[in-house]
Amino acid sequence: MPKFIIKGGSPLSGQIAVSGAKNAALKIIPAAILFANDLEIHNLPRIEDVSRAIELLRDLGASVEDTGEKSIRISTQGITKKRLEKTIADKFRSSIMFVGPMLARFREVEFPHPGGCVIGAGSRPIDLALEGFKAFGATIEHSDSYYHLKADKLHPIDYFFTSVSVTTTESFLMTAALIPGRTVLRNCAMEPEIEALAQFLNASGAKITGAGTPTMIIEGTDVLKAKSPFTVIPDRIETGSFAMLSAASRSDITITDCIPGHIGNLLAIFDKIGVPYETGANYLRVKPASTIAAYSIKTHEYPGFSTDLQSPYVVLMTQAKGTSIIHETIYDRRLIWTDMLSQMGAEIVMCDPHRIIVQGPSQLVAKKLMSPDLRAGIALVIAGLIADGATEIDNIYQIDRGYERLEERLRGLGADIERIQ
Ligand code: EPU
Repeated sequence: MPKFIIKGGSPLSGQIAVSGAKNAALKIIPAAILFANDLEIHNLPRIEDVSRAIELLRDLGASVEDTGEKSIRISTQGITKKRLEKTIADKFRSSIMFVGPMLARFREVEFPHPGGCVIGAGSRPIDLALEGFKAFGATIEHSDSYYHLKADKLHPIDYFFTSVSVTTTESFLMTAALIPGRTVLRNCAMEPEIEALAQFLNASGAKITGAGTPTMIIEGTDVLKAKSPFTVIPDRIETGSFAMLSAASRSDITITDCIPGHIGNLLAIFDKIGVPYETGANYLRVKPASTIAAYSIKTHEYPGFSTDLQSPYVVLMTQAKGTSIIHETIYDRRLIWTDMLSQMGAEIVMCDPHRIIVQGPSQLVAKKLMSPDLRAGIALVIAGLIADGATEIDNIYQIDRGYERLEERLRGLGADIERIQ
């Protein structure tokens, strides 16, 4: 299995460009199923989860052609199969995003429980999705590890999310866009990727209002025509992760091709803890801080502090002066990885599965580690870059799932990081 070997302490500086957002690309690819015409996607991140989504689409009978380094063209006219292959769908959470479009266009889909990072209770739940698809008019059977959804006719719904869910909001948005009539979704997630999806669907013939607010109204239609090409928005989690790399390593790094407003919460915290930065329309420069103050956070749905930025923030807090409490409210198992940071010399006390106390600053030391999931993986890379000695990180498939050619891009900043097979 490939590993990263990171020699910490090299001074970092320069520019790093942000890729297209994983969590936007993984919704636009299955959205292609909604249309009979071709869809070209630009600024596609070439990451493992995107490769799995393309594999899954091809397995259904769609054709996917590379049209450039970061572009593909999708034609879904050849889709004949209605079953999402378990061996592929198992590998990533967003395989669930294929269900709504398949149901809306073909009135039938079979799918296994989706895979992805092991960060939630049990295997991350899809109860809300099942509940909503049933409300849209689908019958649901479960046998041989597959859910089987079928509907003669789907109808619009008025649905209240009892918990805020990103992928479920997006799933219902795509499904409702192809069901004539008025669907109302209440207590929706409000992430920028959802707004981008709604704008794309609107440009393709849907009538959606309220994206980016808790209530969305979707006037669905019989036929949608993809507005091609679609350009994937910049990855705000990469933006935030690189910003925290710069802050934690006291570097001067300019992050380009990003939308700083999408990480407004983190920048407001930078103001409080003394990390200097400068922003432009599509860049963020994070400059070295003389001292960084500790500051407690609680993860929250957007525009609150993103759970996906919690792990690099923990590393930043190991470099801050004082005590901070990190409260992870979204996932049950997203703090377990911090045990590895303790092995590297961080002073961390786990209060319960949702809360840790970090006492800083600490000089981190190199260790042999294993990346347990995507976001913990990037945090370990950042920790390795500021640690004394050579850190070895195994299981980097988990990092490749969401970060494109990470080592090459970090080397562009002067980092000493190698991928070894
Ligand atoms: N939940 C349920 N039932 C459901 C769905 C969700 O109880 O049917 C719970 C989850 O267990 C969790 C909470 O609701 O506690 C939020 O889950 P959500 O559904 O919002 O998560 P998601 O849609 O599966 C997306 C991102 C995650 C990101 C969360 C933030 C994608 C593909 N994934 O996940 O990204 O952490 O929203 O809420 O968009 C990542 O990129 O590393 C990542 C994990």
